[in-house]
Amino acid sequence: MRVLVVGGGGREHALCWALKRDAPEATVFAAPGNPGTAQLGTNLRIAAVEVVKVVEAVQEHHIDLAIVGPEAPLAAGLADRLRAAGRPVFGPTQAAARIESSKAFAKDVMQRAGVPTPASRTFDTLDPALAYIRGHAEPLVVKASGLAGGKGAVVCATRDAAARTARAMLADGALGDAGREIVVEQFLEGEELSVLALTDGERILVLPAAQDHKRLGEGDAGPNTGGMGAYCPVGIATDALLDRVREQVLEPTIRELAAQGASYQGVLYAGLMLAGDGTPHVLEFNCRFGDPEAQAVLPLLPGVTRHLGEIAAGSWRPGRTTLNVTRAAVSTVLAAAGYPDKPELGAAIIVPRDLEPGTLVFHAGTYRDPDGTLRVQGGRVLSVTGLGDTVAEAAERSAAACELIAFQGKTYRRDIGWREIRRRGARAARS
Ligand code: GLY
Repeated sequence: MRVLVVGGGGREHALCWALKRDAPEATVFAAPGNPGTAQLGTNLRIAAVEVVKVVEAVQEHHIDLAIVGPEAPLAAGLADRLRAAGRPVFGPTQAAARIESSKAFAKDVMQRAGVPTPASRTFDTLDPALAYIRGHAEPLVVKASGLAGGKGAVVCATRDAAARTARAMLADGALGDAGREIVVEQFLEGEELSVLALTDGERILVLPAAQDHKRLGEGDAGPNTGGMGAYCPVGIATDALLDRVREQVLEPTIRELAAQGASYQGVLYAGLMLAGDGTPHVLEFNCRFGDPEAQAVLPLLPGVTRHLGEIAAGSWRPGRTTLNVTRAAVSTVLAAAGYPDKPELGAAIIVPRDLEPGTLVFHAGTYRDPDGTLRVQGGRVLSVTGLGDTVAEAAERSAAACELIAFQGKTYRRDIGWREIRRRGARAARS
């Protein structure tokens, strides 16, 4: 089995690691990969979005299975090209990936399918958007419809702030093409949850839920980031809730996409807000594994990559609707100084060899200089996953490793999983 993982972040390192765990005999390639994936296989010097070159590489290296990590190559049609070339690929077509690459399309799909989601309107001209915002309750959310690298959703405390954001996107081109169309959305209070499901367009296998920590600072303070850490499992994601998400969110969405001629194969990621009454409202869909959710979820699911291969091959019969976990994982992101606005790059990184068993270090923004020194190359540098019998134990293991890994400007949260640990503490105190 020769497998290519497309992408070069922490999620892709976790995918390569899970592939080798599940099939040690597999030959793994990554494009472009990173110093972590280089320890597991061969990195190809091809950017993930260079779709023509990726297809050529798949043919040249006789790849049996391509797994596409990030959204950009999916939105650019990589899966379509690979399928057209007769190559098994795990990842949705360009048309189905619009569930992430167009927030306006996703909202339309949800409305047609009756999926719970905050009320919203879509605009591509400024004056009607401003008129709608003037009559909207505060706070409210303004979202760029296109892919904006995690910068597209702006929570606005006031209508004035929302008007400024809408103007910046629609009139001033602040986010380029991504902001030429916007969604103005009702703000919902509650707890967020990431529910990821594997699907072949017909069957659905719901993975254990995870919770991301989007804010930079401890206690969920500070600016939004791509994600500072994630943990799994999440106590509030009961079997009953996940059944509800499958029935009310995932199944209708996949059915509606198929009805529109965009049958979905891959992982569908529902970013949910659990409102006061427990209803799972979809804030966004992603057409891929979450990052850093993958670094927490994949280590807990031995054998999971078999499903990806079978979905790609069209032979998938999962025989169940959910996968459960018996252990816990907490993944903490080590970021560069200045992240997310202006990360400082280049610092040398030291990862001790003797980290505690049950600790996994996934590379994200790293590179090796010509002398072989590992250095900071991006805002999110490493994802450090601790495993344990409980979230608290996993968090301790992750935090201990984060303490020992060294680079100048190392920035991270020491409270990943805090909601779950508090919940468990409260439960223990009651019993
Ligand atoms: N963790 C959020 C994302 O992957 O988009």
